[in-house]
This record gives sequence, structure tokens and C-alpha cells, in this order.
Amino acid sequence: MASLGQIIFYSMITLIVLFSAVIILILALAFSGSSEVMSSNTTPIANLGEDELLSCILKTDSQEVRLTDVSVTWEKKELTGFVYRYEKGAPQLNDQNSQFKGRTQLFPDALVTGNASLLLRGVSRSDAGEYTCSISSSGGGGKVNIQLRTAAFSAPTFKFSNGILAAEASRWFPKPNVTWLNFDADVLSGITNFTQNSAGIFSLVSTLQSVNASETYTCTIQNNLVIAVSTATAIGPDVSGNTFFTYTAASSLLASTYLSIMTSVLCISYLTL
Ligand SMILES: *[C@@H]1O[C@H](CO)[C@@H](O)[C@H](O)[C@H]1NC(C)=O
Ligand SMILES: *[C@@H]1O[C@H](CO)[C@@H](O)[C@H](O)[C@H]1NC(C)=O
Ligand SMILES: *[C@@H]1O[C@H](CO)[C@@H](O)[C@H](O)[C@H]1NC(C)=O
Ligand SMILES: *[C@@H]1O[C@H](CO)[C@@H](O)[C@H](O)[C@H]1NC(C)=O
Repeated sequence: MASLGQIIFYSMITLIVLFSAVIILILALAFSGSSEVMSSNTTPIANLGEDELLSCILKTDSQEVRLTDVSVTWEKKELTGFVYRYEKGAPQLNDQNSQFKGRTQLFPDALVTGNASLLLRGVSRSDAGEYTCSISSSGGGGKVNIQLRTAAFSAPTFKFSNGILAAEASRWFPKPNVTWLNFDADVLSGITNFTQNSAGIFSLVSTLQSVNASETYTCTIQNNLVIAVSTATAIGPDVSGNTFFTYTAASSLLASTYLSIMTSVLCISYLTL
């Protein structure tokens, strides 16, 4: 038979376990919440000189957040002042860093639905870095980090004459390499010439000799950020073709996403135990 001491001991243990479970549950609810801030692309690659939309969206249970309630702050790591700030129904740009003056905007119409995406005009190399978008509103809030990288890339145009197929691309940075394949995916030896302009951007002409008309060739221009795969078929003097761009992932960011997913999984499995 259990002594009084044992009964008290086991009751205490049971109570401690119950209390811990309740506290963990409350914490889990507080952290999961009914709203979160996310981005459709946390590792965008902007084309230098062009505009880039940095995505930041508040997902809430409530259908609409009231515009006057929303405050949005865009910041950049290791930069004084703000990239952009929106509060009390209007932009608050007194403390905006000069690098972003006149180059940034939010979309008030989209903001009503929790879309605080930032348009950055005329991207330059110094815009690369880590941005944080913070939203607070009556419908909830949160923040998301976005790692912006910059590159220059443009699709090549093709010319065919005297059995020579030439690919010309006007804007690439960092310096890419060019590879040619035939229809059977054999590597062919093309010759590529690069020219660098005063801004450091490369233009290139890559030529392939003794090309057979009506055969399809693949030309790949790539650097560590962007890959442009073009197919080209010479028919008479004309060349038909198209180009697909793919963007490489930022490995360090993928690792941190993976880590936070693993942490959530661990928390959930702990709760279900
Ligand atoms: C957010 O708003 C911008 C600007 O109107 C728009 O281009 C973008 O598609 C919107 N994103 C979403 C997920 O609705
Ligand atoms: C590439 O450069 C070489 C050496 O400077 C030159 O002989 C050749 O004509 C150039 N080719 C093209 C397509 O510009
Ligand atoms: C064109 O066809 C000939 C004969 O089949 C082949 O030897 C040659 O390698 C082809 N040229 C290219 C660039 O694929
Ligand atoms: C071309 O560049 C990519 C990215 O920098 C690299 O992974 C690849 O090995 C290079 N290919 C050649 C043939 O140099």
C-alpha cells in the first residue's frame, strides 16, 4: 500500500506535468497566433537598373485590416534610418535613409488587404542586403526578412549566317560563362568574347561554327545567380528560339528556413507526446 508521502509525491508529479502541458499549450497558441507576415520570395534577385517588388504580406483571419490601423516599417541591415515607413494612413519619411529617397513606394490600395510589398526603383548594387518588413495592425502583425541580391541579366538574340550561329547578350553581371549543346546534349566548342562597360556590366557575343540549318542548339549563359537557357534553330537567315531564366537559391537562407521548420516540427511532436 502506498504511504501518504508517496501519494503526495505522485500527486505533485502529476500536477507539475499537467501545469507544464498547459503552459506549453498557451505558449504554442501565443506564438502560432492568428496572423503571420510572410513573403512570396525571401531571396529575390533584382536586375540592376530595373525595378524590384519586395514581397511582404500579412496573413490574418480577419478579412480586412483597417488602413489607419496599419503601420509598416521597412528596414535594411546595417543602415541608419528607414527604407520606408507607413503609419497613421500616410508615409512617414522624415527618417528615411537618403539612399532610398524618391525610389520607394507602398501600395495603399493593397495595404488594406495586408499587402505591404515595397517597390524599389532603379536597383543598384548597393541595394543588395538583408531587409526586414515589419507590420503591425489591429488584425495582427509580425516581421519577415528578405535577402536581396543583385545581378544583371538579359536574354540573348541570335543571328545565323555562313554557317555561324551567334548569340548576343547585352547585360550580364557577375561575368557569366557560355556553353553550347547540340540536340543530343553533346558539348560543342563555341567562342565567347566579352566587353565590359564603364559600370562594370558585361556584354557578350558567343559564336558557334559549322552549324547545321534546322538543327536545334542550346545556349546556356550562367553565373552564380542566374541561368539563362536558350534554344535556337536556324532556318534560312532567321533563327527561332526562346529563353528561360532560373535563379539560384541562397544556400545560407535555405539552411535557416530548414532550421526553423525543424524547430516547429520538434515543438509539435513535443506537444503531441
Ligand atoms: C501586392 O501588391 C502589389 C502592388 O499592387 C502587387 O503587384 C502584388 O501582386 C500584390 N501581392 C499579392 C500577393 O497580392
Ligand atoms: C573575338 O575576339 C577575337 C580576338 O580579339 C577576334 O578575333 C574575334 O573576331 C572576336 N569575335 C567576335 C565574334 O567578336
Ligand atoms: C553538322 O552536321 C555534321 C554532319 O552530321 C556534324 O559533323 C557537325 O558536327 C554538325 N555541326 C554542329 C555544330 O553540330
Ligand atoms: C559556369 O558558371 C557556373 C556558375 O558560376 C559554374 O557552376 C559552372 O561550373 C561554370 N561552367 C563552366 C563550364 O565553366
